[in-house]
Amino acid sequence: MILPIYLYGSQVLRTPAQEDDLSDREGLRKLIDDMVETMHHADGCGLAAPQVGVSKRILVVDGNDLTDRFPELKGFHREMINPRFTFESEETSSYEEGCLSIPNVDADITRPAKVRIRYVTTGFEEVEEEFEGFAARMLQHEMDHLDGVLFTDHASPIRRKMLTGKLMNISRGNVRTRYRVKTDKK
Ligand code: NI
Repeated sequence: MILPIYLYGSQVLRTPAQEDDLSDREGLRKLIDDMVETMHHADGCGLAAPQVGVSKRILVVDGNDLTDRFPELKGFHREMINPRFTFESEETSSYEEGCLSIPNVDADITRPAKVRIRYVTTGFEEVEEEFEGFAARMLQHEMDHLDGVLFTDHASPIRRKMLTGKLMNISRGNVRTRYRVKTDKK
């Protein structure tokens, strides 16, 4: 089922999400399937549960549409429950990011180049994996959503200032998207 995506300005995007207690496995799988379907429908490469109004520590990423720029992302798809960083490199990298909750906005964001994440899979196994390159960036962007942080928070002060009007419009729902969106107001 395709879910509406909450836009910048919505309270749920600023609320730190709760760990899932893993008691309702069927419900979790259904939510994650819906998140993947919603992400693909919106042509996104990542989605976190708060973006569909669910304040839980769950994220999905898929790099298969990005293989023109990042051939190494062929086949890259992860679904993570209760992910947490176990390592973030001191080395950083910078690249342009966007977000389905902040349509038509981009900014260069500096992040650790490499991360290790421990998480629960949809098969309910606990695993730890290391990521680098754009995969590491996608995952850090989605992990931020679980803490109520948006990529624009990391943009340079001058870039943030330039985006103020655009962000204001988005929070009012004054933005065109090809996918269904939601704000706290409507
Ligand atoms: Ni995002």
